[in-house]
Amino acid sequence: MINRNFNVEYYLQNLETDFIGRNIVYYSETNSTNLQAKENSYKSDGTVFIADYQKSGRGRMGREWKSDSGSGLWFSILLKPDISPENAASITLIAGIAVCTVMREYGFDAGIKWPNDIVVNGKKICGILNEMSVRENDVCYVVCGIGINVNNARFDGELSDKATSMNIEGDKDYEREIVLQKVLSEFEKCYKEFLKSGIHDFLNDYKSLCVTLNREVSIETTGTKKNAYAVDITSGGELVVEIDGQRRELCSGEVSVRGILGYF
Ligand code: BTN
Repeated sequence: MINRNFNVEYYLQNLETDFIGRNIVYYSETNSTNLQAKENSYKSDGTVFIADYQKSGRGRMGREWKSDSGSGLWFSILLKPDISPENAASITLIAGIAVCTVMREYGFDAGIKWPNDIVVNGKKICGILNEMSVRENDVCYVVCGIGINVNNARFDGELSDKATSMNIEGDKDYEREIVLQKVLSEFEKCYKEFLKSGIHDFLNDYKSLCVTLNREVSIETTGTKKNAYAVDITSGGELVVEIDGQRRELCSGEVSVRGILGYF
């Protein structure tokens, strides 16, 4: 496994984006790049905060995100879109589509486990945590935090059944600088299109990549578990399920969804 620091100069050399990731703040070690992006939200639209190691990497629903030194891409994109808070939730879908598309370009059979885990061969290769700040119904900023397992050679303990990396799937090392360039280019392309035309055109892409749809899933809210059937995704990114003969829309912040036979 390559275990060297992220090389900012090398990354900037062939970066093809207009504004995403042109300004980059690098930490060899920090608490969490999402926290850093929020604390430094005065920086320009599209600034990327990246760390080789996060001491307290944060996942969805208050979980920890394991961010070993030098093995993965742990980064957060600071965004300042002129959109309503309801529409800002769609940035999660956009980010999921962008990472999934790049993983497929690398040859992995990647899909999206609702709302935004990228999975390969039934295991998670990337997680996304979006956070937003709103004042008087205006979005001040959105922080799109993305963790991609790139060169992790193995996962121990309970993660061994659930997590994978590009290295494990492709049986070789990947240059994190190049993976980041590709992800940011794809993200910027989708994000600009979304700002111009909305989420509608992306919904079909999301649905065709989403491995949660048309399956029996187990829905876990605080302490309770129920089986349901996943039938659709709304334009706001909610998962539509049939549960006890009724349709319900689940919001990503509230529930954890698992396939009844495995991780997704
Ligand atoms: C999840 O799947 O639960 C979301 C994981 C998000 C992890 C990334 S790593 C970069 C950014 N900084 C954090 O503390 N979390 C996100």
